[in-house]
Amino acid sequence: MINDARPIGIFDSGVGGLTVVKEVINVLPKEDIVYFGDTARVPYGSKSKELVYKFSCQIIKFLKEKNVKAIIIACNTVSSNCCEDLQKQFPNIPIIEVLEPGVSSAIKSTNNRKIGVIGTEATIKSGKYEKKIKEKLLNCQVYSKACPLFVPLAEEGFLEENITLDIVKMYLRDFFKKDIDSLILGCTHYPLLKNSIKKVVGQNVNIVDPAFETALKMKEYLKKNHMDNNKGGKHKFYVSDKNDKFDFICSLVLKEIHIAEKVNIEKY
Ligand code: DGL
Repeated sequence: MINDARPIGIFDSGVGGLTVVKEVINVLPKEDIVYFGDTARVPYGSKSKELVYKFSCQIIKFLKEKNVKAIIIACNTVSSNCCEDLQKQFPNIPIIEVLEPGVSSAIKSTNNRKIGVIGTEATIKSGKYEKKIKEKLLNCQVYSKACPLFVPLAEEGFLEENITLDIVKMYLRDFFKKDIDSLILGCTHYPLLKNSIKKVVGQNVNIVDPAFETALKMKEYLKKNHMDNNKGGKHKFYVSDKNDKFDFICSLVLKEIHIAEKVNIEKY
């Protein structure tokens, strides 16, 4: 029985949110998905909260026009800076973000209560991960670090090049004297660099990607509210600027071929 055949909307500043789409497809294979990547305005991580909020409102208006039944903010920058305001602005559409799932995954993963968080400048500056982890896990230590060059590397498709490894080393070397046992990838672009990150941090650090837990949260929400679909499975991609890299990375991450359609997001 189909309860609600409308698609799930997912968005990010660019290709990063595809790492969340991948898990949503794994967990909810019979749901239709509409994805929006703001390729014209990436990166979000170095922009002001006001601008990121404005961009997010435009994208949500676009997704609503596509008749989505719920939205995943597949972006830590938006999740950590604007999520509550967005839910207030759009009270009639359920919005799921990636931060809470990241926090609960990290808490499950850590044994020594020393957790690292890496993300964009805006996410780290918000202090949200640190605050939420400390609310839920007593006597823990949280070490945060912004890694702003990771997003352009991922957007370029430089996932395992030597230069990528050098940049990962540059950001994470000192960070790893802290004896952390779990590292939250607090930016949805970063799982694309996972192999390079793993090489630098070694086998003893658990890499925590919030995407799986986010997909589970959406699954539970849809089920609980009788909004699930068991007859879908179509995936449609939109971008604010057309470049071949998006389609290439999309095929790499999802193992599906898609030609993203360009949308004039400024009109929303
Ligand atoms: N992938 C997004 C995040 O999780 C945005 C990165 C960016 O555009 O700077 O924060």
